[in-house]
Amino acid sequence: MRKEKGYFISLEGGEGAGKSTQHGRIVEWLTAHGKTVVEAREPGGTVVSEQVRQVLLDTRNAGLNATAELLLLFAARSQLVQEVILPALTDGKVVVCDRFADASYAYQGGGRQLGAEAVASVEQLVLKGLQPDLTLLFDMSVKQGMTRVAGRGEADRFEVESLMFFERVRRTYLERAAAQPQRFRIIDASQNQEQVWQQVKSVLRAGLDL
Ligand SMILES: Nc1ncnc2c1ncn2[C@@H]1O[C@H](COP(=O)(O)OP(=O)(O)O)[C@@H](O)[C@H]1O
Ligand SMILES: [Mg+2]
Repeated sequence: MRKEKGYFISLEGGEGAGKSTQHGRIVEWLTAHGKTVVEAREPGGTVVSEQVRQVLLDTRNAGLNATAELLLLFAARSQLVQEVILPALTDGKVVVCDRFADASYAYQGGGRQLGAEAVASVEQLVLKGLQPDLTLLFDMSVKQGMTRVAGRGEADRFEVESLMFFERVRRTYLERAAAQPQRFRIIDASQNQEQVWQQVKSVLRAGLDL
């Protein structure tokens, strides 16, 4: 898949890393700088994708196997790309997406131990080379992230996973960031919200020439 114009930003990282918190500030700041911004959150963002999201997060679906989970995530992603992301990029807009394909490498490839090759083969089928221009990886210790989400209400089907699962997720994210330094920027998410925002802003300034 070729994108014409536009600029595609993805936000990645573990639970409680502050992605959603910074997402809002990013959108606001880019808009103030004259960009037309389209927001998305994965899994979700289209009628079909939101229905798939329900299946994925439902703790009653404990029997969902890892491969089925991977395919459902990419099914939701396929709809989002076709209906939202590609049209926005074609129009020259900035897309800010809370999680994208790197999350499948981290969660299904690493966390669920399907491996990178399995994820890559589905990614190729669905995305045909489409990648974000910039990926912000919000990184911090698993324990700190869990402390932050502890007060967030009932845990979903991912949030009930073990500490080791989330350690594998974090390690996979960091390995991908190290392997693709041109696209990834690692944000130290352990800092307070204002300090994290300063890091994010300087990455955005550089990436978008603002
Ligand atoms: N830098 C920060 N320091 C302390 N708490 C934070 C910070 N960023 C976010 N939080 C809080 O941590 C929780 C998780 O943040 P959230 O943005 O929902 O993370 P994510 O979307 O990555 O799971 C929220 O209660 C949020 O208010
Ligand atoms: Mg979030």
